[in-house]
Amino acid sequence: MTNSTTPSTPEGSPLAAFRDQADALVAQMSVEEQALLLSGDGWWQTHGIERLGLAPMVVSDGPHGLRKVVGAGLEGSVPATCFPTAPGLAATWNTVLAREVGMALGREAQASGVHIVLGPGINMKRSPLGGRNFEYFSEDPVLAGRMAAAYIDGVQSEGVGTSLKHFAVNNQEFERMATSSDVDERTLHEVYLQAFEIAIAQAPAGSRPWSVMSAYNLVNGVHASEHHALLTGILRERWGFDGFVVSDWGGIHDRVQAVIAGNNLEMPGSGAHNRQKIIDAVRSGGLDPAVLARVTAELVAVVLLAHARHRPGSTFDAEAHHALSRRVGAEGIVLLKNDGDVLPLAAGTRVAVVGDFAKAPRYQGAGSSQVNPTRVAYPHDELVALLGADQVTWARGCDGEGVTSDDLVAEAVAVAQAAEVVLVFAGLPDSYESEGFDRRDIDLPPGHNRLIEALAADHSQLVVVLMNGSAVAMPWVDRVPAIVEGWLGGQAGGGAIADVLTGRVNPSGKLSETFPVSLQQTPAYPAFPGRDGQAWYGEGLFIGYRHYDKRGLQPLFPFGHGLSYTRFDYTAIRTSAPTHDVDGEGMLAVEVTLRNSGACPGQEVVQLYVRERAPKVVRPERELRAFAKVRLAPGEATTVRFELGQRDFAHYDIGLHDWAVHPGTFDLQAGGSSRDLPLSAEVEITARRVRRQPITRRSLVQDFLDRPGGQDAYAEMLHALGFGGLLEPVEEAALAHWSPEQLAAKRKGDSAALAFANEMPLYKIPAMSGGLCGDVRIDELVRAFGG
Ligand code: BGC
Repeated sequence: MTNSTTPSTPEGSPLAAFRDQADALVAQMSVEEQALLLSGDGWWQTHGIERLGLAPMVVSDGPHGLRKVVGAGLEGSVPATCFPTAPGLAATWNTVLAREVGMALGREAQASGVHIVLGPGINMKRSPLGGRNFEYFSEDPVLAGRMAAAYIDGVQSEGVGTSLKHFAVNNQEFERMATSSDVDERTLHEVYLQAFEIAIAQAPAGSRPWSVMSAYNLVNGVHASEHHALLTGILRERWGFDGFVVSDWGGIHDRVQAVIAGNNLEMPGSGAHNRQKIIDAVRSGGLDPAVLARVTAELVAVVLLAHARHRPGSTFDAEAHHALSRRVGAEGIVLLKNDGDVLPLAAGTRVAVVGDFAKAPRYQGAGSSQVNPTRVAYPHDELVALLGADQVTWARGCDGEGVTSDDLVAEAVAVAQAAEVVLVFAGLPDSYESEGFDRRDIDLPPGHNRLIEALAADHSQLVVVLMNGSAVAMPWVDRVPAIVEGWLGGQAGGGAIADVLTGRVNPSGKLSETFPVSLQQTPAYPAFPGRDGQAWYGEGLFIGYRHYDKRGLQPLFPFGHGLSYTRFDYTAIRTSAPTHDVDGEGMLAVEVTLRNSGACPGQEVVQLYVRERAPKVVRPERELRAFAKVRLAPGEATTVRFELGQRDFAHYDIGLHDWAVHPGTFDLQAGGSSRDLPLSAEVEITARRVRRQPITRRSLVQDFLDRPGGQDAYAEMLHALGFGGLLEPVEEAALAHWSPEQLAAKRKGDSAALAFANEMPLYKIPAMSGGLCGDVRIDELVRAFGG
């Protein structure tokens, strides 16, 4: 094999040990065999090549449980633990738990003979309407990226691979295979690629996903499955990814282009259809055989690794995984509101449970992620188990779809009247939220709202418990004292909810997405979903809290929000130094001290946001850069230490096509929610290597001003334009006889003239100076200043 066909493998990658073997195997394969390998054998496995001893590799959905199934259908998968879906896991902000979930999934995959789990999904929540938001972590790339990295590390530590999906900019379900996500370069990198980058490039080589799944959609007019800049330029060359890319199921458009772009595996298999196209392309010279060999070897290396790590005959402990699901579910529950400390339920409280979801909970979403659970815990039964049957009454109120009647509502109100506290279960049914279509609005079914309003009008101690995979509007928010966000809490979610309501678990979940007041308030409104084949991401960087903060909008509940049964006081923040050189050695340490000043033990998510005080480019008000979850006993204090580096202060510079830091003052804001940041410290950021866009003929006259030695060139340009006088110091005496009106007019004229000259592109100078400064001189300056 020549170098051009040998894929590069970063040091520490588990694939390093299989590269040579993969190359050697591919060297013995015919073009036909290579083409065979690059398309699946049916829906869930790769082809084997018996004569070379290469066995098939089995893949299965994820992400919140294993869905090992035969064929195309969604039903009939093997029993597996259904963990809380991604928003519930993300709301724990606990990377240790995310890793544990990953490990459990890995064990279940081993037991089912699955080599790769198709997940996690880390697409950004651009709009609460996104039909698959229930499968994605967050609106923030740092939270999503770090949770995903921990999950990936957990699965892979059990010898099973992951496939990070959907790469990239896959944020709507409407016509998902035919719509182009049109996004500017800076937003692409800062918002839509960053979570992937964290889980791939910023993860240790040993913990990178073995696979990445290309998305259905197009990105800026090119199918993601055949997007060379994304799949090769960014993923492999910039981020050092060395696994294989798999198409989303049926996501291949032009198979040969996809191979050239770096898409290794087509799923499901297309039989001879696309295989022949690859073979023909090699024969006609349209596909370099060396490229085919490289793309095949990248896949084969993972197949070899997967088999080496496989543990035939493995089993898993279903009870232990159910218990883990309950623990994760409880830790992800967000106590949104708790006026008058209605919760936790005091022992002996008479409780009315209302709503079908209490007996038939919605605990996962619909579509390819749908798990066949090993068992299901029902909130009503779990509450009875913890509180005692005598303490709990129940009324249907309305069904899961929100169908209700005067009688059902009246019965619920009557049952509620006899209780001290009313727990009403509401949320989104499957018909509102699913893979394959987006939500039409952010409302609960009308029957759920009607029931809540009726109970709220009649009872002061009402607790609304929600089951939904994404933000919902709450028109009754001011009329109920307590709201508990239970997400799609997985098969043990009923127990998790009972744990939090009764205080067995002190809630510590925080919102991983903003809850808006209304759909009209949301970032991509009214452009979501993109129609007619185009989704224009006109809101740019400003999704999630970046949108609400920048526009000064008050959401219903902000990103990062979540209450506890105890209280945390943030008392001190300090940095390791008042200034920090991002190009120097070491990181800037930021220490945040907090104390549990309440009466019970609890956990808190310490959030650290960074803000550039006077940015030269448009930047969000603040951005999450670090977080940590801490457990504190009553009265206990702790200091959390974060380390920040270059990227934590950087923005993506579209001139450099890279990340850059502008030196200046930055604020470091810490607290327990994006809208509750009691601590702030400032740091002066310097950079030894200030990178600037090179001077070109399209640069502006003012661009000389921030270059070493650029003052003379700047003055030369102003003189050439006839504005040299603006640079001369004005003698006070010379203006002594000017009237105030004349002075004001001069000042106005001078500043307009200066703006005109400053913003003149260099290529215009020869014409605007009447040839005084010609093209030759401009080219000389461009060369001198490194253009
Ligand atoms: C989904 C993927 C999933 C695949 C296999 C696709 O429709 O978009 O997330 O992994 O099917 O079920």
